[in-house]
Amino acid sequence: MSEVSVSILDCDFNNLNSEIEKVNNTNINYIHIDIMDGVFVDRNTKKLFDLDKISNLTDKNLDIHLMIENPLDSIDEYININPYLISFHIENNDKILKCINKIKSKGINAGIAINPNTNLNLLKPYLKDIDLVLVMSVFPGKGGQKFIDSTYERIQKLNYLKDDYDIKISVDGGVNNSNSKKLLELGSDILVSGSFLIKNSNILTAYKSLLNH
Ligand code: DX5
Ligand code: ZN
Repeated sequence: MSEVSVSILDCDFNNLNSEIEKVNNTNINYIHIDIMDGVFVDRNTKKLFDLDKISNLTDKNLDIHLMIENPLDSIDEYININPYLISFHIENNDKILKCINKIKSKGINAGIAINPNTNLNLLKPYLKDIDLVLVMSVFPGKGGQKFIDSTYERIQKLNYLKDDYDIKISVDGGVNNSNSKKLLELGSDILVSGSFLIKNSNILTAYKSLLNH
């Protein structure tokens, strides 16, 4: 069953209530929150998201994407809002198993995010422990970037690597209705889409066009 997660990084934060309300009026499955620390990527979004407020405005599952150095040190902040999923990056992280265990010990799904130029084989030791791989189809740091075409092959390879493990594949960056069909055909489970959905004058039509062709 294909699912959609909307990144609200580029939403209108001055009208957050109505932005979230628009999402609530669709069958979009998750709200994707992009946490950046200004170190792992240039931008810092730590103060952009009022996570308690967002949680209060929606019943949608929260999908937290951490683009931060040393995620183990601040994962508790995000565990406390009880999201559905927390993904952290495999790059520059020597405490991956500890991150996974900490997230899972609280009953939250654990995902590993992987950049477009990082070897997928590095995921192998963790595949038995995680719930999801967040395949980056742009270099993280900002919304509205162009989808990187080599992602298609990476999805295929990951599908082969994950073998019988029950892991979802989520794709993040530049996802729109011109690449969604192929991404789903190749075995993606969740499409993360930001600007295509949130900046569209009709989010419902845009959402449907991601899933139906
Ligand atoms: C990139 C973020 C993405 C991004 C998605 O650093 O992780 O989640 O905001 O936005 P679009 O769909 O506009 O690329
Ligand atoms: Zn993201």
